[in-house]
Amino acid sequence: MKFLLVAGARPNFMKIAPIMEAFRKQQHRPGLEIRLVHTGQHYDPKMSNGFFEDLNIPHPDINLGVGSGTHAQQTARVMIAFEEVCLNDRPDWVLVVGDVNSTMACTITAKKLGIRVAHVEAGLRSNDMSMPEEINRLCTDVLADLLFTTDPIADQNLRREGVAEEKICFVGNTMIDTLLLHMDRARALPLPEGLRDGGFAILTLHRPGNVDHRETLCSLFATLLEIARRIPVVFPAHPRTVARLKEFGLLDQLQQDDSIRLLEPLSYLPFIGLVAHSRMVLTDSGGIQEETTVLRVPCITMRPNTERPITCEIGTNILTGSDPDRIRTAAFAVLDGAVRPSSIPEKWDGKAAERIVNVLLNVE
Ligand code: UD1
Repeated sequence: MKFLLVAGARPNFMKIAPIMEAFRKQQHRPGLEIRLVHTGQHYDPKMSNGFFEDLNIPHPDINLGVGSGTHAQQTARVMIAFEEVCLNDRPDWVLVVGDVNSTMACTITAKKLGIRVAHVEAGLRSNDMSMPEEINRLCTDVLADLLFTTDPIADQNLRREGVAEEKICFVGNTMIDTLLLHMDRARALPLPEGLRDGGFAILTLHRPGNVDHRETLCSLFATLLEIARRIPVVFPAHPRTVARLKEFGLLDQLQQDDSIRLLEPLSYLPFIGLVAHSRMVLTDSGGIQEETTVLRVPCITMRPNTERPITCEIGTNILTGSDPDRIRTAAFAVLDGAVRPSSIPEKWDGKAAERIVNVLLNVE
């Protein structure tokens, strides 16, 4: 059996790493062939190579080098380049993870060539069609032959959309496999100068809905600066966000006011180490909502909705949208010591990748 595994952008790398490792343990099986394709959607060393090193992911067998562009350009470039790979390699299965443009592009390409597709992290729904990721999730899941899910809510979403029961497989969360494997090593890293355990907050912000509009971004930073007066805020910034801060004249102000400490994007271990030691996280990311739930760090998600509702229902996540009052109230409550009981979702136990590989190796 020949498998092509696809990763393209930063949040894919921690999801693919444990699957590569679980396949490596099965290398002795006769006829098993695994190839890793990096689409090159993320290409900055800080958004890509650092993750391969930290997570011990083997060098990709193929890099499509598609780079940035509009959604159509990026998706089209992945499809053209990936079609050639599929035609040359003729895999039995293509495995995609997450919800980025590369996920959808490779799924469509493979299916049109009659190649079966497995989607890891299927069934997540924000029900918000203004998010490019929601479109990617819907297209991927309607086409995939095997849908590996992280929680029972995702299973329900798929059933509601008419996906056949035998295609749905609740396996847990491969991003959490990676977190559990590396957590101790990450925690042991020294903190950046001037920061102490539990004495700082982390900020990440990159979603177009938050960063691409001057008014929204200015209003968010006015509130974040208020919070930063009560606790130092560390901000590893996505390149898109830095570009917008510059364009809207906010970058100089941030660089002068050192209560929000602007950093380059961090690779996996330093980032997780910081999260584990932080008082709280303010974010608009998807995966960080899950990581904070497992690390039991309060997470304030500055989005109107989430495709990961389980992190709000039983985890540490609080949705505030971009509303200044809601963000401030949630952050101040954490700083004033409010603690909400939380628990870790079922099967987020470090064994998801093993379950996935076990299913794939036994499929008809
Ligand atoms: C992508 C994913 C998003 C994920 C995010 C994590 C899609 C639709 N979105 O968004 O779900 O949460 O990754 O980071 O797939 N850029 C660089 N260097 C890079 C990559 C990007 O400078 O290595 C800059 C470019 O200016 C580019 C912009 O970031 O135009 C956006 O990159 P892109 O890959 O289109 O989407 P992200 O915002 O990173």
